[in-house]
Amino acid sequence: MASAPWRCPTCRRPLERPDPTRWTCRSAHSFDVARGGYVNLLPTGRQPGRSPGDSAEMVAARRRFLATGAYDPLTSTVRAAARYHADGGAGETILDVGCGEGRHTRALPFPLVLGVDVSKPAVAVAARAHREGWYAVANAAALPLAEGVADAAVNVFGPVFADELGRVVRRGGILVTAHPGPDHLAQLRELVYDDPRPHELKPPLRHAEGCFEIFSSEPLRWEMHLGEPAALLDLFAMTPYRWHGPPDIASRLATTPDAAVVTADVRVTCYRRR
Ligand SMILES: C[S@@+](CC[C@H](N)C(=O)[O-])C[C@H]1O[C@@H](n2cnc3c(N)ncnc32)[C@H](O)[C@@H]1O
Ligand SMILES: [Zn+2]
Repeated sequence: MASAPWRCPTCRRPLERPDPTRWTCRSAHSFDVARGGYVNLLPTGRQPGRSPGDSAEMVAARRRFLATGAYDPLTSTVRAAARYHADGGAGETILDVGCGEGRHTRALPFPLVLGVDVSKPAVAVAARAHREGWYAVANAAALPLAEGVADAAVNVFGPVFADELGRVVRRGGILVTAHPGPDHLAQLRELVYDDPRPHELKPPLRHAEGCFEIFSSEPLRWEMHLGEPAALLDLFAMTPYRWHGPPDIASRLATTPDAAVVTADVRVTCYRRR
């Protein structure tokens, strides 16, 4: 496919790929394909100085942690939900918004898999690991995608911009979101905060009733046996908790007894686009 689904982030016109090295629009905006196979579709001239999204260190920690298989129950559940609900298996195109380093993305069983994330280091890793997927550095709040281009979309622990999701998922298409339940990473939070509180569970699309209807919302819970302190450190480093906690948190985590058990508690919600 040489054109679609991308749209120019500057003028919104369709992007075409005149050759494998770049995408261009009819207003002559041009976006180079990086050697890793992804394209940067943040609007030209409006790229913030500090890289947005997850840093290279967070991406590396997430990649190492997910490679242990500790989140595989989540990958399988999201994969199965997306496949099952997408027209009984007829969906062609799936979009992962806030795809991160792509562990869940590359498991999605669709002919065309699109992954977007605002973090360049994350997209670089995701694209390298999944040459058949189409990846772009892009903002979930202003997706460089055509209306109704996706039969299905997923969002795993990412920021949810419901209007944009409603615009790019076709009518009758589906959306699967995964977000923390009340006990998610409870043991890690106990190490980080003096006064840990449960996560407040909110349906991520509570303001988007006009676009999507929820048709299932299930808790998914399992215990992660991390085995070695390095995994706990990676888990810490890939979450926002890394900005909190006492100064000695890293040494506390490093000396946590082997085989630490951390609860994963995730709410997986499926929506249909009205
Ligand atoms: C908690 S991580 C989850 C990554 C991946 N879905 C996973 O589960 O492994 C959240 C991701 O959202 C991305 N992100 C944050 N703000 C974003 C935005 N405005 N647009 C696109 N991605 C964003 C971050 O860079 C990060 O990769
Ligand atoms: Zn343009």
